Amino acid sequence: MKITVVGTGYVGLVSGTCFAETGNKVTCVDIDEKKVQKLANGTITIYEPGLEKLFQRNLKEERLIFTTDLAEGIKEADIIFLALPTPPGEDGSADLKYVLGVAEQIGKLLVGYKVIVNKSTVPVGTAQKVHNAIRKNYNGEFDVVSNPEFLREGVAVDDFMKPDRVVVGTSSERAKKLMSELYAPYVRQGNPVIFMDEPSAELTKYAANSFLATKITFMNEIARLCELLGADVDMVRKGIGTDERIGKRFLFPGIGYGGSCFPKDVQALVRSSHEVDYDFKILESVMQVNEDQKLHLLPKIKKYFNGNLVGKHFALWGLAFKPNTDDIREAPALYIIKALVGEGATVTAYDPEAMPNVKAQVNDIINYAETQYDALKEADALIIATEWNEFRTPEFEKIAAGLKSKVIFDGRNVFDLQHMESLGFHYESVGRKPITK
Ligand code: UDX
Repeated sequence: MKITVVGTGYVGLVSGTCFAETGNKVTCVDIDEKKVQKLANGTITIYEPGLEKLFQRNLKEERLIFTTDLAEGIKEADIIFLALPTPPGEDGSADLKYVLGVAEQIGKLLVGYKVIVNKSTVPVGTAQKVHNAIRKNYNGEFDVVSNPEFLREGVAVDDFMKPDRVVVGTSSERAKKLMSELYAPYVRQGNPVIFMDEPSAELTKYAANSFLATKITFMNEIARLCELLGADVDMVRKGIGTDERIGKRFLFPGIGYGGSCFPKDVQALVRSSHEVDYDFKILESVMQVNEDQKLHLLPKIKKYFNGNLVGKHFALWGLAFKPNTDDIREAPALYIIKALVGEGATVTAYDPEAMPNVKAQVNDIINYAETQYDALKEADALIIATEWNEFRTPEFEKIAAGLKSKVIFDGRNVFDLQHMESLGFHYESVGRKPITK
């Protein structure tokens, strides 16, 4: 099939590359000339495990092409995907200016039947708006389909190639047939392509992310309660997760969810609810609890240092909002850094991938280390903000030797309590008994 993907951001690039991987001819269109040039010359613009290999292979085989020319890009396409940004506007609702702008342009360029697919996360009713925007300039036949993505950063290639499900919102049989053909190679193992109407598909994406954000936030509140009642959240997690109705996944407490999706989508769903006079109370609480959760370690740190952090120096492991990504959007680490610096402390950070992004954003307020152990020098304590694998089984002697005293505040519960006790660390984590020294 001939596919066009408009927008070469995270979703666009992963989708385009993975569509090419099964033999489709994919043209990726973007207005950013520098980016298009880079991509066309074989330099990948995002960090995503496993993507580079697929990207290089399909580029070489000429199944993946990059251009700034929308007209050229869509001329031969059977299906046009819109993978454009929908940033939150000032009121928290998703801003559709890019999506609708491109839809209008597509209307001017269409010749013959094509399916236009919304991949971006967009509020309910957007498929209709895209339809209207194209219709302004085009009288022929076309269909607009809603096909939300459920890609997790860090495992996006796998999520795309072997999805749990593909959700397709369309009321057109013709579009349904094309979408079934397109996704057939990805659901060979028997996972479903679920067809539904457009508004339901649009809402499915928000409902999925909001549900997961709520699940995490629920556990974060249980963790807080564990701390107050002397229970262990790890035990509670195991105790409830074995109930299949609850499930084991997404029950890990920590210092809050971040990233480009959960915060934005929860906020947008609350906002959409307001528009139809509905007060989505659970989600409003989720947003508030998550904001507080990002700074959950701070009172513990302050208490340990008798309420005064002036002149204290901290080593911080992990800047990305989660492991296996360089994404720092809404990353709890950044909130912690700002709070510590605001209290008069200094910070040396290490992250395997995200340091360049942080340097670009808050460059001069912290120092950066070459290795996780270099970050420890002269630090009064170590703070763990992201659970990268390499932080899970470190050389504890090196940690002890690097730090001024053996003190760790762990926002991701990466270490075993008994182990920490036996090593003689002062160790505080989330929802578990503090090991005090
Ligand atoms: C998410 C959705 O999973 C994906 O389907 C959607 O398309 C985009 O948003 P992503 O943002 O890449 O993907 O990250 P994910 O792995 O889902 O984690 C989101 C956040 O939740 C991270 O900050 C993570 O640290 C946090 N989290 C996750 C927890 O705090 N506890 C958990 O148990 C799981």
